[in-house]
Amino acid sequence: MSSYDVIIIGSGPGGYVCAIRCAQLGLKTAVVEGRETLGGTCLNIGCIPSKALLHASHQLHEAEHNFAKMGLVGKAPSVDWKQMLAYKDDVIGQNTKGIEFLFKKNKIDWLKGWGSIPEAGKVKVGDDIHEAKNIIIATGSTPSTLPGIAIDEKIVVTSEGALALGKIPKKLIVIGAGVIGLELGSVYARLGAEVQVIEFLDHITPGMDAEVAKNFQRILAKQGLGFTLGAAVQSVATAKGRASVTYKLRKDDSTHTIDADTVLVATGRKPYTDGLGLDALGVTMTDRGQIATDSHYATNIKGIYAIGDAITGPMLAHKAEDEGMAVAEVVAGRHGHVNYGVIPGVIYTHPEVANVGETEETLKNQGRAYKVGKFSFMGNGRAKANFAGEGFVKILADKDTDRILGAHIIGPMAGDLIHEICVAMEFGASAQDLAMTCHAHPTYSEAVREAALACGDGAIHA
Ligand code: NAI
Repeated sequence: MSSYDVIIIGSGPGGYVCAIRCAQLGLKTAVVEGRETLGGTCLNIGCIPSKALLHASHQLHEAEHNFAKMGLVGKAPSVDWKQMLAYKDDVIGQNTKGIEFLFKKNKIDWLKGWGSIPEAGKVKVGDDIHEAKNIIIATGSTPSTLPGIAIDEKIVVTSEGALALGKIPKKLIVIGAGVIGLELGSVYARLGAEVQVIEFLDHITPGMDAEVAKNFQRILAKQGLGFTLGAAVQSVATAKGRASVTYKLRKDDSTHTIDADTVLVATGRKPYTDGLGLDALGVTMTDRGQIATDSHYATNIKGIYAIGDAITGPMLAHKAEDEGMAVAEVVAGRHGHVNYGVIPGVIYTHPEVANVGETEETLKNQGRAYKVGKFSFMGNGRAKANFAGEGFVKILADKDTDRILGAHIIGPMAGDLIHEICVAMEFGASAQDLAMTCHAHPTYSEAVREAALACGDGAIHA
């Protein structure tokens, strides 16, 4: 039996970042991971592989649509799907091995196997029981499917199967117009599939600023994604290697059935806590199946903490990472804190969509007086040169104090641009603070400054 200051269960972005911070703070640390490689969903079957496929398919899109305009003539490349998957697997391998290297460098033990907690202070992995002063649960989440739908990860797939399809489908039905559905729907649309997205709500991307969501849908439709909104999927049947999806339209209660080679079920994720023994321990759960924690990530059982997708809050890798760092500080006897008001969200389609803080809708609900500064990428020289003029930056600021309350970007590199606004918000900046900051020309970031200027006396290039 070995004994540790901290044992973390799960090596996703929440768990591995937490482990590194614990080690940096001088704690003897181990991580339990049953998968063959470290990194959890994000590195193995989520964020990283999907970004590889988004990158590759975007290059194809550029070759097909923009190369000739720039004088780059020749036949657009054709797709070698096997090689594209091999490239994706190589990217996964590089990243997961990177975590293994960081574990060695920081003297973190990897306890290989699936862990459970027989009692507070003990973690069981295989036949071994390890002692830990602190246990941190970072077991993440798993796709939540719908009743009446059997996933086989070949014809009816979750995001996991969608990242390793045997071939590019001719027709793909995506159930759910959330982040996963739109990112992976984009990949396959670019690779030539006919993609139809079926969404329960009357709009895509729930929670997103409505103006951005509307523009986003218009842009994706131009890229060939079809949308059926206000439609509740009721069942998916498979026969002879094909699937048919039955849905009911809310507007007239009519029922429809369409078929496809592949169906991607992207209707959300749920906390993954199976096999940990939380029931027997008496760990309090929320009514949504999440582990209940206090503001220091402590569960109701002394010495057991939880972070990431397994607890409340947005299911985002970077939210889990921040919680991982914060809980490491807590168990080391220091102060850990996450500012949930400034957690960016990014959708890695093309153009990208990024947001932070309040939307117009949440501000209206709060009855808060606000102003809007907007700037189109059409007025940005760099974007025009790069065929990336679609989209805009929108900054929401307090009407009286000018303090930045939220920002929404749809456009080139939105996922990177959002961070200067995050930093500004962390410092409690006003829109004017951003507007008075010199931005290099020609960069996409000038559009952020212009939107900040539009909160005051007006943008220059509008
Ligand atoms: P989601 O919650 O983003 O979207 C699910 C969509 O499915 C919703 O629009 C919902 O209205 C719809 N839906 C639910 N039941 C339905 C039905 N019966 N018929 C039709 N539509 C239905 O979930 P998603 O896309 O599966 O992602 C899961 C989690 O993973 C999210 O929390 C997301 O933020 C996270 N994620 C984040 C990424 C990023 O940050 N780039 C990438 C991928 C996932």
